[in-house]
This record gives sequence, structure tokens and C-alpha cells, in this order.
Amino acid sequence: MFSNASNFAEGVDTAFLLILGISIFFLIALTVVMIVFIFRYNRKRNPVATQIDGSTTLEIVWTVIPILLVLIMFYYGWKGYHPMKERAPKNSMHIKSTARMWSWSFEYPNGKVTDSLYIPIGKPVRLELISQDVIHSLYIPSFRVKQDVVPGKEEIMWFIPEKEGRYDLFCTEYCGLQHSYMISAVHVLSDSAYNKWYADTSKVAVAAVGDAPGAKGLAVLKKNGCLACHSLDGSKLVGPSYKGIIGKTEAVETNGKEVQVKVDEAYIKRAIYDPNADIVKGYNKGMMLSYKESITEEEIKDIIEYLQTLK
Ligand code: CUA
Repeated sequence: MFSNASNFAEGVDTAFLLILGISIFFLIALTVVMIVFIFRYNRKRNPVATQIDGSTTLEIVWTVIPILLVLIMFYYGWKGYHPMKERAPKNSMHIKSTARMWSWSFEYPNGKVTDSLYIPIGKPVRLELISQDVIHSLYIPSFRVKQDVVPGKEEIMWFIPEKEGRYDLFCTEYCGLQHSYMISAVHVLSDSAYNKWYADTSKVAVAAVGDAPGAKGLAVLKKNGCLACHSLDGSKLVGPSYKGIIGKTEAVETNGKEVQVKVDEAYIKRAIYDPNADIVKGYNKGMMLSYKESITEEEIKDIIEYLQTLK
């Protein structure tokens, strides 16, 4: 019925279907009783109102039955939920998962970084979730798992993928203008396919880092989720496009004054480390945070090398 691909799916589905079943039963039962009463106690059939003084038996029945029902719902809900909050198994694979406006990145024990999640089937995975800016929430519907990611706090999520395939992964907490860009995927691979993928560290970032000029820079941009807000083809997103940016003269707002600046290496560095210092005309302040912690000066050189190829 639903795609269910993790060890938690069954517990969540049981609770959900049970509650859904009880709800449907009462929806139908109450509707039927209501319709019967409308006919049976219509003024034509029942002209004089009947006075009823109450019934102890009835009071007990409609108190005890709902209590039992909600306790049963709670029991199955708890049974499905509690294992998720237990400590992840010792042999779990630890993956550092970073959320930021507006992309995800996943860092594996061997240093590989991707923007969608790659995991092997049947092995427990422990995601260490951190946010670089605001509250995000990681949601993998097919795994029935969801966890808010709060800045300044490491959150843990774990599961065992049980079916190979590609599943949706997205942010389910409104986190600003491009919240909807935070859709990505989980790829559950067979053991052998995963080992092959994992061993290939030539692709440190998402991009195939080849020998093409600037390939390393593109990998840095992808790793840091820059392309969610800066296009490569000249189209306007949250921030200015990278196309033809080097050498261009831009009107920027600095300390409330409009000035013309030439986009050179110093400007690119300032834009990455102190993005709100100069805001290009037509864009909003406060949309980007400093990447001082995540992008090194060496990487900025790679980025500039890449930007120079975008004429
Ligand atoms: Cu991140 Cu919504």
C-alpha cells in the first residue's frame, strides 16, 4: 500500500492503520446512528418528547470503551515510536548531516560528501544532524522517520534501510524563501554496489571532479549547497548568478550607500566570508550567512578558478 523501506515502517504503519480504522468505524457508526435517530424521533413519529433520567450502565459503557480504545492507540503508537528514540546500534554507520538554507549535505566516515544520501541495505545508519542557520527538519517518508534540526544542537536519527531503491528526502520545516529546494533523495544500494560507490573517493563532492579547469571549485560550490541560490546560467535566484560574474562591475549597497565595484578575487572572498557587507542591487540583505567556517581560503581560490570558466 505505502512504500515502506526501513525497520521502523511497520511499527508506524500499525499505529496509523489502527487509528485510521477506529476513526473510520466511528465515522460510519455515528453517521448511521444519527440518520436512524432523525427518522425514529421525527416529530411525526414521536410527537411528545420523552424524559430520560439517565442510565448508569450506558455511562459506564461509553466511558470504559473509549478509555480502552485510546489506551490501545497509545500502546501501538509508543511501540512504533520508542525504538526510534533508543540508542542507535553500535555497528551503525555514522553520517554527518548538515542542513542549511537551502540544501543538505552528507559527510561519510571516509570524507566523501554528497547532497543526497547514499546508504547500504540492511545496515544501521546513524545521522548526526546539525543546522548551520535556522530550524530545518529531515523527513524520509518511506522510512517513516522525521527529525527537526535545531541550530546549536546535534540531533540524532537512526534507521535500518530494508529495501533497495531511491526514496524522497526533504526538509519539512518552513525555513525561508527556498524551503522547497531542500528536496533530495536517499539511495539504498546493495552491499557490493555500495562498497564500490564508497571506495571511489575520487569524487569527494557530488560533482565528478575531473581535470577540467575549475572542476575542484565546482565541487566546493556543490558541497556547500551554493547552487541552491546562485545559478550557473544567468538566471536570477535568491542571489546573483555566477555566470560571467568575474570582472563584471556591479552596483552594490555598502553601509547604506550605493557604490560600483568590480568583481575580483577580493570581492569574491568578502562575499563568501562577509556576505552582508556589499549587497548587490536588487537582492536582499540577510539571505546568506558567512561561510568562514566551511570554506577555506584554498577552496576560495578553486571557486574563483571555476568562476573564471563561466563566461
Ligand atoms: Cu530547510 Cu525547510
